[in-house]
Amino acid sequence: MDLFEYQARDLFAKHGVPVLAGEVIDTPEAAREVTERLGGRAVVKAQVKVGGRGKAGGVKLAKDPADAVEKAGQILGMDIKGHTVHKVMLAQTAEIKEEYYVSFLLDRTNRTFLAMASVEGGMDIEEVAATKPEALAKVPVDANEGVTPEKAREIVEAAKFPAEVADQIAEILQTLWKAFIAEDALLVEVNPLAKTGDDGKVLALDGKVSLDANADFRQPDHAVLEDKAAADPLEAAAKAKGLNYVKLDGEVGIIGNGAGLVMSTLDVVAYAGEAHNDVKPANFLDIGGGASAEVMANGLEIILGDPAVKSVFVNVFGGITACDAVANGIVHALELLKSKGEEVDKPLVVRLDGNNAELGRKILSDANHPLVQQVDTMDGAADRAAELAAK
Ligand SMILES: Nc1ncnc2c1ncn2[C@@H]1O[C@H](COP(=O)(O)OP(=O)(O)O)[C@@H](O)[C@H]1O
Ligand SMILES: [Mg+2]
Repeated sequence: MDLFEYQARDLFAKHGVPVLAGEVIDTPEAAREVTERLGGRAVVKAQVKVGGRGKAGGVKLAKDPADAVEKAGQILGMDIKGHTVHKVMLAQTAEIKEEYYVSFLLDRTNRTFLAMASVEGGMDIEEVAATKPEALAKVPVDANEGVTPEKAREIVEAAKFPAEVADQIAEILQTLWKAFIAEDALLVEVNPLAKTGDDGKVLALDGKVSLDANADFRQPDHAVLEDKAAADPLEAAAKAKGLNYVKLDGEVGIIGNGAGLVMSTLDVVAYAGEAHNDVKPANFLDIGGGASAEVMANGLEIILGDPAVKSVFVNVFGGITACDAVANGIVHALELLKSKGEEVDKPLVVRLDGNNAELGRKILSDANHPLVQQVDTMDGAADRAAELAAK
């Protein structure tokens, strides 16, 4: 889960990373009072989960409270790379002398954590990385050792931070690392980490944080950080039912058991769709091992709730859960939905294979549901589902 800048700022503050005071508002008029509280001046910053806000006109300096109202009015409602601005953060202004970059992230390729740092921070670290890679230091961080004072020093030296800020940055790196670990983050990024004012104090002026959703169970505080308004309603409903569902743009609803099987089902359907008006998978849905009637009914309910769906492909490979149990799950799910007044009105193509496949197929044949068709192979079933969706 990616956080808004203001949430990242709060999280930095909680762990002791130096930040400036800031407040979030969603109406221009509210900027007046907040700016007065912040000392009469403020930076008005669009809160969208996308980088490059500054360049897009989403970060503006306001010289007084009236100006802040005007700037907030300009930024609220703005579209930045497809993200509408619903909130702005007003932050204290800093007199920036230099802009640096630091981050910690999970480096999956090298199976380690990675620190990145550069004296060329500011708006365009991606460009620095692309055109001047030597200006972006990359230092692996051992998961067990973490950022010790020695490691912090190593990062500072690798990035060639100026001597007068070296101690401050080494301290900030250790604090930021503690935040990264304590919050189960996958990424914490500060850009710019700025040297400010006449005293040269180093401050985190912008923050990007991505939290690991797999750690939600031990991070109860993270639930409130979720942007419920932005979540896809079907994905939110699926999450509430404990389903692994991702909405996609196509027309063929997909249900499968096991993430790997579902991923390959998406590929097979996309390929089959090329011959049928270019229809595509409408979703990813892994119902996992159980595949009980209830889970199947929940899955079907979510998928049929998507108006773009024209047909559904249920692709199950029986393992520990045998195909007869899945077939019974499908039959009961259809009854369950009917009894709830949500009768299925789109064709279902079912492919059962693996443990007890024959028995499963027989159960479905005997049930003789008018909208359920069986195809024995995955390719054949994908083709049939795509054909039905294209009609
Ligand atoms: N509190 C602040 N005081 C003064 N200047 C700021 C402040 N926050 C950001 N800036 C300036 O605006 C630029 C862009 O802001 P930033 O928060 O980094 O947004 P983005 O990275 O999305 O463009 C920064 O590089 C910095 O120069
Ligand atoms: Mg930035």
